[in-house]
Amino acid sequence: MERIILVLVLCCLEFTNAGKVLWVKDVIADIEMAVVAEQIAMNAMCNMIEKNEENIRELTDKIDNLKAHAHVEPSYTGHVVCVEENDLSKPDSDGKRTKMVNISFDKAYSAPPKVLASLHRLEIPKISHYSFEVSVKTITKEGFTIVCATRSNETIVELASVSWLSIPSAY
Ligand SMILES: *[C@@H]1O[C@H](CO)[C@@H](O)[C@H](O)[C@H]1NC(C)=O
Ligand SMILES: *[C@@H]1O[C@H](CO)[C@@H](O)[C@H](O)[C@H]1NC(C)=O
Repeated sequence: MERIILVLVLCCLEFTNAGKVLWVKDVIADIEMAVVAEQIAMNAMCNMIEKNEENIRELTDKIDNLKAHAHVEPSYTGHVVCVEENDLSKPDSDGKRTKMVNISFDKAYSAPPKVLASLHRLEIPKISHYSFEVSVKTITKEGFTIVCATRSNETIVELASVSWLSIPSAY
């Protein structure tokens, strides 16, 4: 801007007589004022753009935060000892003996999740009848029950541990 004004002044002085120098000064003052006004306007605009960028950043952060918490529910995993020293129930009419362990999720789901449970470790003495199964029942938002069972009244279970995984039902 300053360079343009300088060129303008030189041109004016070259082609005007002494009487018009005052007029040239007025023009220069006007131009300078216009430049200042333009700078003020530009500063205001820059401030507005900065403010908008800040707002956009804040909103983006909020959206990311909401996304992180809104619909995605966690998966939980666990590991429990189910049977210890053959502490299963007395045989029912079918000869089935059971031991149940209730599991609670750290935080309740919005709907009963899917649950997978599998045998992690099993210790059965050599003389025993080998029959053992792991299942889950009564899955609720809050938790579920692991069922360890054997079909034979002659199975001795020294130790059985179970690993489990719960995932939101939406998956
Ligand atoms: C396990 O949960 C069932 C209900 O699903 C309840 O009847 C039972 O008493 C619970 N057992 C233990 C040891 O908390
Ligand atoms: C298992 O059941 C059978 C018959 O139902 C019985 O003869 C046997 O003695 C039982 N064994 C034990 C260890 O209870």
